[in-house]
Amino acid sequence: MSKQWFKDAVVYQIYPMSFQDSNNDGIGDLNGIIERLPYLKKLGIDVIWLNPIYKSPNKDNGYDIADYRLINPEYGTMEDFNALLAQAHKLNLKIMMDLVVNHTSDQHDWFQQSKKSTDNPYSDYYIWRDPKNGHEPNNWLAAFGGSAWTYVPERKQYYLHLFASGQPDLNWENPEVRQAVFDIERFWLNKGVDGFRMDVINLISKPEGLPDVPEPVTAGKTMDFVADGHRLNEFLLQMNEEVLSNYNTITVGEMPGSTPQDAIKYTGLDRHELNMVFQFEHVLLSPNPDVRLGKWNDQPIKLTELKASLNRWQTGLDGQGWNSLYWNNHDQPRAVSRFGNDSPEYRQRSAEMLATTLHMMQGTPYIYQGEELGMTNAGFTRLEQYEDIESVNFYHELVNEKHIVDGKTMLKYLAHMSRDNARTPMQWSHNHNAGFSDAKPWYAINDNYSEINAEAALSNENSTFYYYQKLIKLRHEYEIIRYGTFIPLDPQDDEVYAYERKYAGKTLLVINNFTAKTIDRVYPPKQEGTLLIGNYANDQGRKLRPYESKVYLF
Ligand code: GLC
Ligand code: CA
Repeated sequence: MSKQWFKDAVVYQIYPMSFQDSNNDGIGDLNGIIERLPYLKKLGIDVIWLNPIYKSPNKDNGYDIADYRLINPEYGTMEDFNALLAQAHKLNLKIMMDLVVNHTSDQHDWFQQSKKSTDNPYSDYYIWRDPKNGHEPNNWLAAFGGSAWTYVPERKQYYLHLFASGQPDLNWENPEVRQAVFDIERFWLNKGVDGFRMDVINLISKPEGLPDVPEPVTAGKTMDFVADGHRLNEFLLQMNEEVLSNYNTITVGEMPGSTPQDAIKYTGLDRHELNMVFQFEHVLLSPNPDVRLGKWNDQPIKLTELKASLNRWQTGLDGQGWNSLYWNNHDQPRAVSRFGNDSPEYRQRSAEMLATTLHMMQGTPYIYQGEELGMTNAGFTRLEQYEDIESVNFYHELVNEKHIVDGKTMLKYLAHMSRDNARTPMQWSHNHNAGFSDAKPWYAINDNYSEINAEAALSNENSTFYYYQKLIKLRHEYEIIRYGTFIPLDPQDDEVYAYERKYAGKTLLVINNFTAKTIDRVYPPKQEGTLLIGNYANDQGRKLRPYESKVYLF
C-alpha cells in the first residue's frame, strides 16, 4: 500500500461559530480557535478542518457563500486568518478549508449579475431554464424543502437550487465557472492552506437534459438521482490536473449517495482525483419506514446493519482507495447519543467504545469538536429551540403543510436527528456559558456542561479526552492500525462489533460490546496478545462488560 501523509493523519473538525468566542459577542471566531490550538495539539491531531468562514448571509450557516475571498466579519479578518494559519503551522497542524462550490449564495455577485438578464457575462454561471407549461422545469425537490426551482421575473426563468433558494447551483458545464472555482482554490492554496473538504461535490455534474425523478419524489430521491453525474470524473480530474496536483494537499469529497464502487472511481490510487470521500451509508441506516419522511425517525440503528455497511466500505476500498472514518459532524446528531448510550451511567464508556471501533479501522479518522469529551445531543423539546434551516423547514412542511406527521412525533424525530444537536457551543468548563463566551452565546448550551466539559476532562487522567489522545498516539505508532487489512468477524452478532487487522505477520484484534449488558465471547486467536488499549481497568478475558472495548496485538 502506498504511504501518503493524509493516510497517517487524524483530522479534527471545527465548527467556528460554536467553538470559542474571543471578543465576547457570543459568536465563535478565528482568534478563539488560535487560543485553543494548544488544546488540539495536546489531543494529538494532525489536521484541522474548518467549516466555512467566508462572507455569507448565513442562511445555511456559511454554506451559502457571498464572497470566497473574504472572511465573514463575525469570525474576524484576513489578518486573523493569516495568524491562525501561521500559528497552526508552527505547531505542525495543517488546515483544511471547506470548499462549497456546488452552489453559492444568492447574494454572491455572480448570481446578482446572472439573474439580471440572459445576456450578461454571468448569465450562464447558474442553471436557468424556461418554465414548462407555466410551471417548474422538472419535479426535483430541494434538500431543505419545496421545489428545487425558483422563478425570477427579470429573466422569466427558473434557477436550480438543490438546497435552499438562497443557494443557487453553479453551472459546471460552463468552462468559465470551472476556471473561476479553480482560481478560488489557488487563492487559498497560495496562502498556504493544506487542502479542502469539498461540500456535496458529487452533485456538480447534473444529468443531461435534467429529466424528472421517477416517483416517489422526495428530496433524498432527487439527491440520489442527481449524484455522481456523467461528467463528475472529468471535472474532478481537470481540477486535479490544473490545481491540486501542483500542491501537497489533503482532499475529501462529501458524497451523499456514493457506494464503495463510486468511491473507488474518485479516490482510486491511479485516478488522481480526490484522496477520500465522506460516504453517508452508515449515517442513513435508519430511515423512516414512511419514505415521505426520509431521514426523520427516532429509531436506533441495528448493529448488524451498521457492521455490514462499515465492513463493506472497509473491505471494498482496501488497497484500491482510502476511507474517511466518522461517526458525526455538523450535519449529524452526536455520536454517543445516536450509536452509543448517552445516559449518565454509560455515556463515557460508550463514547470510548465508539471511538475504539472507528479509530482502529483503515482510513483517516475525523473527530468532530466535543466528540473527544463525549458531548451529547441537545435534548431540545420545543420547535423554538431549533435554528437549522433543514429542521425548521421540514417541521413546517411535514407537520403543517402536508400533515404527514403530528407535531409531537416530529419533535421526537428532531431531538434524535436534527443537525442542531451538533451545533451547540463547545463545552470548555463548568463556568458561566461553559467557558465559550462571556456574552449570551448565539445558540443554547447543552445543560450537561457542568459535568461534560474540557476542563474537567483535562484534569482527570481517565477521561474520554485522554482515551482519544491514546487512540491517536497508537495510530501514529503502529503501521498495522494505519495500513493493516481489515477482516470482519461474526457479522451476525448483534451485540458485539469485532474485527481483525493484519499486517506484516501481525494481527490486531478489536472487540467492542455495543450493549449495556455483560456478555461472554471468545475470539480466535485466543486472547493472549498484548492489550494495546481498553476502556476498563482490568481485562476479564472472555467476559465483556457494558460498552467494553479492547484491542489486542498478536
Ligand atoms: C453539506 C454541508 C451542509 C450543507 C449542505 C449544503 O451537506 O455539510 O451543512 O447544509 O452541504 O451546502
Ligand atoms: Ca466572537
